[in-house]
Order: sequence, then structure tokens, then C-alpha cells
Amino acid sequence: MKFKTVFACQKCGYESPKWAGKCPECGEWNTLVEEVKQQESKKAAQRTRSFTEFSSEIVKLADSKAVKEPRIQTHISEFDRLLGGGLVKGQLSLLAGAPGIGKSTLMLQVAAELSKTLKVLYISGEESIGQISGRAQRLKVNGDNIFLLCETDIQKIVESVEQVNPEVLILDSIQTVYHPEFTSSAGTVAQVRECTSELVRLCKPKGIITFVLGHVTKDGELAGPKILEHMVDCVLYFDTEKDNVLRLLRPHKNRFGSTGEIGLFKMTGHGLESVENASEYFAQTSRDSAMKGRAYSLALEGSRPILTEVQALVSPTRYPFPRRVATGVDLNRCLMLFAALEKHIGLSLDNKDIFVSLAGGVKLKDPALDLAVCAAVISSCKEIPVAPDCVFMAEVGILGQVAKVPLIDRRLEEAQRLGFKKGFSASVTKGEKQKLSAMSLVELADLNALALKLR
Ligand code: TYD
Ligand code: MG
Repeated sequence: MKFKTVFACQKCGYESPKWAGKCPECGEWNTLVEEVKQQESKKAAQRTRSFTEFSSEIVKLADSKAVKEPRIQTHISEFDRLLGGGLVKGQLSLLAGAPGIGKSTLMLQVAAELSKTLKVLYISGEESIGQISGRAQRLKVNGDNIFLLCETDIQKIVESVEQVNPEVLILDSIQTVYHPEFTSSAGTVAQVRECTSELVRLCKPKGIITFVLGHVTKDGELAGPKILEHMVDCVLYFDTEKDNVLRLLRPHKNRFGSTGEIGLFKMTGHGLESVENASEYFAQTSRDSAMKGRAYSLALEGSRPILTEVQALVSPTRYPFPRRVATGVDLNRCLMLFAALEKHIGLSLDNKDIFVSLAGGVKLKDPALDLAVCAAVISSCKEIPVAPDCVFMAEVGILGQVAKVPLIDRRLEEAQRLGFKKGFSASVTKGEKQKLSAMSLVELADLNALALKLR
């Protein structure tokens, strides 16, 4: 057998015969690692030609009756919603996240639910049977239909799948498995790519629902080549916010659903719990009395409105340069809003420190928060308390104009459901406000109008 060494970029999969400090393909530094590559045998070359075995018939799209894939639910409400209603037969998903975030916990809980009707094979290359069963006891998982295997050799994994014939396969994690025909160590580009395509070839034709767990690098990106993301149907990132209790599951790619959704979980003493009432989770202070420097908004995560509490503190500075700090919102966006407030309503902010923060440790990028940031800053600066039943949702532009944000009707409805009495937004159509019965709407044109209303 012939061997050849190549230097493969661990980020993008680029291969080069020579080492270089910087990958010429993706521009990352120090990512080229030497890997021994075997001259592919003819059989191997044939094998890698296609991932899946499709029927080779050609059909007209119009004739190909839309096959509605039945969804298999996990009954973990947040997980199902995120997946677009449930899992699809043969779906291959990649679950990525930092160590300790709860990937194995989530998968064991998913396995527990699915095992009520389906046969599950849980393969771990990271933990011993003892460790997994310890966690299963803690989670009170009934393991009657879950089969465990500790293995890292992909060929043995394939054999065991053929032997057990599961309907659900979980592999923890892709970075620990290796293909014995490749001499590079587990977790390198060649291994990750080869092992994943082995799994695709194995599981797709059999219709096995497969979950592959993956690590992320310190920048929060999936360790291993991008090609991994192309090979799977669904990429889910597990992330946490600063308080470390809340877990956010974000789809990065989803062939069977939208990528706009997020799933919210809480890590408890007995595993992950779905947080369904996300709307109320993030608000921190009580909504009983008016407060200076606090304004509520309804931001969207995916298609779901989340109640957010914007807090601002404006105080005289003791430094030559006033401080501007933003937590949870984009600082540059805030700087623009501060400038607009100074220019258009003459708010004097030049000798003040300004701190803006989203309560509850969330990070959001929704432009609807603009108006709430402005309201909170005006309120703190001018010492005007904002009534607790007011909610602000609109985008503010550099000219000081207030603009409508997407899905304003859903936000207004949710605000009304949460008991807000007064909504501030840009002007909306009749249809968008028709469901408002218990809440009045203040339609603003610009920041001046906001300042007048806050007086
Ligand atoms: P784990 O699923 O092992 O994370 P990962 O597979 O992503 O590395 O879970 C990690 C953390 O979760 C661990 O530090 C302990 C905590 N945990 C709980 O708080 N409650 C529980 O019920 C379980 C099972 C874990
Ligand atoms: Mg784990």
C-alpha cells in the first residue's frame, strides 16, 4: 500500500503538499496538520462516490407527489418545535456544543423518549458504560429499549448497527471515532469526513434516525471541516448564556424545518427541562411599579416573541472619555442610537457614562429593541420613570425616524397577552392591530414623538 502525506486544514479541509502557517483557502492560521493519506484503492474510490443510494429513476417534479414525511416526536416540546415538528426517518443530525454544555444529557433524554416506541443504539467513545448508566439513573431513564456500546472504531460501529438493527442511532462524539484504514488520529479532517460519510451511507438507506455529537473549537465553531455540515441534514448548536443555567439550541441548518427557531432549556438537577414560557423567563425586575431606566420590548427569536427587559444607566462620567458599555445588545447599534438621541432630541450625553444591558443574560440582535433602548436611555438620563405596563418595539434609524419591525402583529398580541396596556411602535396597518382590545397603541413617527410621550 502506498502512503502519501498531505497537510490538511483542520478548519476547511483544504489539502496541500507543503506545510504553511496560513491556510490559503480559508485564511486561518496554524490549522494545517500533517496527515498520512493512503493511496485509495479502487474499491474505496468507488465507495466514496456517493453518500446515499437513491433510486436512479428520473421523474418529473410535477409527477413526484409531495411525500409528506411523517414526523416522529420526541415529546421534548422545545426539541420538537425546533426540528419543525419532529424527526424524519433517516434524518442525520449533528449536535455541536462546548464540553459540559449538556449534549450527552440531551441525547440521553431524547433516547429515553424515542425508546418508548423505537429501538435505540447509543454509542459512546467518550464515556464508559458505567458513566452512561450513572447518568441514566440520575435522569430516571428506563433503558429497556436502549442499547449501549463503547466503541471508537467506525467499522465495528457499522457492524454493531447491522447486528442490533436500531431505528435510532446516537454517536457521542464524531471526534472520537476513527477509520482504521486512515492512519491520521481521531478528530482530524480526514477521519471526521470519512467516519461521517460512512455513517451517512449506513443510516440513510436504512432510514435510521441518527444523531452525531460534535465538539466546538474555542471560537464556538464546529471542530472539523465544514464539509461535515454539508453531509448532514440538520446542524444544531448548543449554547449557553452567561448565567449558565439556560441552554439555547439553535439550528444552523435544517433540511426539514426553519432555522429561525431556537429551543430553550434549563439545566436542572434531573436533566434538561424545556422552557416553554420563554416570554416571561428573561424579565428580571417585577412589573409592579414604574422604574427609571427600564423599558420592555418583545424581541423575536425565530418566530417566537420573547419579553425582554432593556436596562439603561446614564450617569455623569469621571473619566476624560465617557464609557459606553452594552451587554446583550450590539454596542455599535447603541452608539448610533445615542448619537441619534443627541442630535434629534438634544439629549446631552457627551459627559455621561452609559450602560445598556438586557436582563436575564440574553444576547439579541432584533432591531425592535432600538425603541426600548432609546426609551430606557431617555428615562435614565432625564430621571423620568417608565410605567411598567408600557412596551416598546420599533427600529430607530440614524435620522431619528421610527420604523416598523417584522411580525409586529404577533409581538403586539403577545404583549397584550402578557398584560401590557400601552404599546409604542411605528404606525401599523389596521389588520395588524385588529386583535388589540385590552392594549392601546401609540404610533410614533420619530424620536421627538417618543420624548414627548415619555414626559
Ligand atoms: P453533559 O451532558 O455530560 O455535557 P456534554 O456531553 O455536552 O459534555 O453534561 C454536562 C453537565 O451537566 C455536567 O457538568 C453536569 C450537568 N448536569 C446537571 O446539572 N444535571 C443533570 O441532571 C445532568 C445529567 C448533568
Ligand atoms: Mg458528553
